[in-house]
Amino acid sequence: MPRRLTGFTPSGDLHIGNYFGAIAPIVARQQAADTVAFISDLHALTLEHDPAEVHRRTLEFATLLLAAGADPDACLLMVQSHVPEHTELHYLLECVAGYGEASRMIQFKEKSRRQERVRVSLLTYPILMAADILLYDTDEVPVGEDQRQHVELARDLAQRFNSRYAPIFTVPTAVNPPVAARIMDLANPSDKMSKSAPSPAGVLRLLDPPEVLRRKIMRAVTDPGTTVAYNPEAQPGVSNLLAILSACTGTAPHELAKNFDRYGELKQAVADAVVATVTPIQQRYHDLSRHPEHVRAILHTGAKRARDLAAPKVLAAKQAVGLVPA
Ligand code: TYM
Repeated sequence: MPRRLTGFTPSGDLHIGNYFGAIAPIVARQQAADTVAFISDLHALTLEHDPAEVHRRTLEFATLLLAAGADPDACLLMVQSHVPEHTELHYLLECVAGYGEASRMIQFKEKSRRQERVRVSLLTYPILMAADILLYDTDEVPVGEDQRQHVELARDLAQRFNSRYAPIFTVPTAVNPPVAARIMDLANPSDKMSKSAPSPAGVLRLLDPPEVLRRKIMRAVTDPGTTVAYNPEAQPGVSNLLAILSACTGTAPHELAKNFDRYGELKQAVADAVVATVTPIQQRYHDLSRHPEHVRAILHTGAKRARDLAAPKVLAAKQAVGLVPA
């Protein structure tokens, strides 16, 4: 069975881009793949953050992953900081990564431009991500388009380490969903839907009440003209709505476009489909949040299983670079 692994950073509220980009793909194939999903809480410390919010969201994200269908018997669910091997391997990989390749990462350039004081951990963020991936002999990394470059770096570091020291890492591949790899902000369709968007108006959060989701969708920015066509370059707003509808229904966006004459009808259909997708997740989330001890127990077991997998890999990496075992 291939191993599939992906992570979620508790730095803002989960939205349907996260859901269609990574949560749904991991849940859909958890019986057919050896699946690992985790909350990358250490990654949330790379920017200015409120400790109480990181704490709250870590448990909220874990609960939402379970509510969205992650089955703890099929999917190892854990919190990154509960598995210290992630930071151990992070350091070893820093010693094969170059400053140049880290500083060329698009996300680093974008995020550092917005910061007055850039944390060193923001620069090394993708190297920690490489450690997350390489620790578990991951074959496939289901992610949205924005993480593809980071997975490429993980591939490069695995290959470099393997050829310089010893062939101990599996070289991973990024897997993007066919239509929802880059869901755009509804209020500003030239930007991707993001947890850190300056305004929530165009972000469909998984925990937004149905009426809020409907309102955001009905107010979505569309394009000049009235034809409903799937053409992300020329009609980014309408194409984004079609991509969301496609992700909800499984029908290709250009097929869906034929069913609508007016933008209003399309928006109505998107609102119905998003609410139908999100409502059962919200119901399970509210049930599960009444039992936080149950969620914590799942994370505890997940961390133990993860450490059993990760510890031999770190040991092998340490020996390969010349460290004397304790
Ligand atoms: P994060 O938390 O920003 O996003 C979680 C997942 O959601 C995807 N995503 C999107 N997909 C489609 N459309 C969008 N608008 C959209 N926005 C986000 C992301 O691509 C991601 O798959 N660094 C990662 C977490 C991480 C990780 C890892 C992922 C840490 N270690 C190892 C994979 C493997 C992050 O912050 O994702």
